[in-house]
Parts: sequence; structure tokens; C-alpha cells
Amino acid sequence: MTQPALDLVIAALEGIREKSDHAPRASRTTLARLRADESVTVALRETTALPTGRRLQGPDKANLLAAVRERVSACAKCGHLACSRTQTVFGVGNPDADLMFIGEAPGADEDQQGEPFVGRAGQLLTRILKAMNFAREDVYIANILKCRPDMPAGSFGNRPPTPTEMQTCRPYLVEQIDIIQPSVLVALGAVAVEGLLGTRAAMRELRGRWHTYNSIPLMITYHPAYLLRNQAPSEKRKVWEDMLQVLERLEQPISERQRNYFL
Ligand code: URA
Repeated sequence: MTQPALDLVIAALEGIREKSDHAPRASRTTLARLRADESVTVALRETTALPTGRRLQGPDKANLLAAVRERVSACAKCGHLACSRTQTVFGVGNPDADLMFIGEAPGADEDQQGEPFVGRAGQLLTRILKAMNFAREDVYIANILKCRPDMPAGSFGNRPPTPTEMQTCRPYLVEQIDIIQPSVLVALGAVAVEGLLGTRAAMRELRGRWHTYNSIPLMITYHPAYLLRNQAPSEKRKVWEDMLQVLERLEQPISERQRNYFL
């Protein structure tokens, strides 16, 4: 789309927003065309915002997420992943969650079940949540990539997403975060951080302190798969200390037992 045409669309949307109580509407096809252009996505996000002071409510969020999920399920931007996946893995949990976890990409189990973090690493994440007094249904869990990174025929295991795959898929995650509007984000592992912030650094430099993504407090901690590989109590304790900071930030009560807990 040329700049003058884009300016015209934005001006029209702004006009509608000024005169109406409702966010401007556009057909799915139009939105899909506009969203193909990242600069338009940003403009749309700003111009279709709800009137000042009105925050998205749970049912609004569920509807908006359902529309993104539909687009994701038909996505073929990475042709190789669209061919190899069993299904896309969008995200799971409470659309109105205060706390959102971001992992890297679905593995074999997630690809089979269509839900993030259901394999061994996922079971550990569920235990961490339980220790925080949360169920999976209380929080929202998503990945940078919505497709399982493909593997050469006949080989087992999972591979990390490439920078190009992450850049291509990132807009979907950005939309999920924009809709959910969590109070706190947790990025699990260095790959999730790279996908979200575009920053590459060692986890020992990143974890355990607050960062921000789009003004949302972001805690970075180790990926549960790392804890499965490295069972040292010191590493488990680090993740737990990061989660205690998250609970504090969310103003959740923390019991003495939780304070002394080792995962
Ligand atoms: N690891 C991830 O990062 N995400 C999943 O969904 C599963 C494992």
C-alpha cells in the first residue's frame, strides 16, 4: 500500500473512532490485507483502540483471540512449517490472565496435541505454576512460533526456531499480548527472549531481573527444559526465586512454605 493511501485509511479510521463509541470495524479480508504490512498493523492497533478509559473485557478478548487463532491455523508464511506441522499450536489459558508465559516453539507432543507445553517440559511448567498457586487455566501460555520447527525425515527430537521463522511468526504473539494485556510477562529461555525482544544474551545476564516489553514488566527465567537437563538444586532455586519476584509483582500472597520452596 502506498503512503498516501495508507494515510487515507488511517484518517478514515480515526474519524470513525472520534465519532463513535465503538472501535472501527473492517472485513476480515481487508484486515488480512492490511495486516500483511507491519506498518499498517501498528497503525491499525493504534486507530482501532477502544475509546479512552475502556479496557478490553474477558469476552472481547476471547473473541479477538479466536479471530487471530483462525488466521494462525491457516497461516502458510513459512511454507516448510505449514507442510510439516500436524496443526498449529496457538496458545492456552485465560484470555483475561494477569500473567502470561512465553516459550519458544511447540515440540513433538505439542504438535500432536495442539496445546503448548504439554510434554515433559510442559509438565514441569505446570508443577511450577501449581507451586505458585496457579492452574494452567489461570494464566495464558503461548510460544514465539505457532508451528513445530520441522526436523529432517527420520530424526527425533526438536530443533530451535531460526531467527527468520521467529520474525515471521512474531506478529501473532504481539497480537496475543496486545489482546490479553497481561500485568506481567515471563519469557522462558534465551530463544523466547530473542524472539520477543530481538536481544541475544546469556541467560545468566538476563534472568532474575525485570525487563520490559511494551511497558509490560517482563521476567526472564530459564526454560523448564533446561531444568530437566540440569537437575542441580541451585538452578531450580533460581527459577523459583524468579517466580517469587513474579508473585510479588502481581501482589499475590506468598506463604512461608513458598518462600522456602525448592522446585
Ligand atoms: N517448549 C516450548 O518452548 N514450548 C512448548 O510449547 C513446549 C516446549
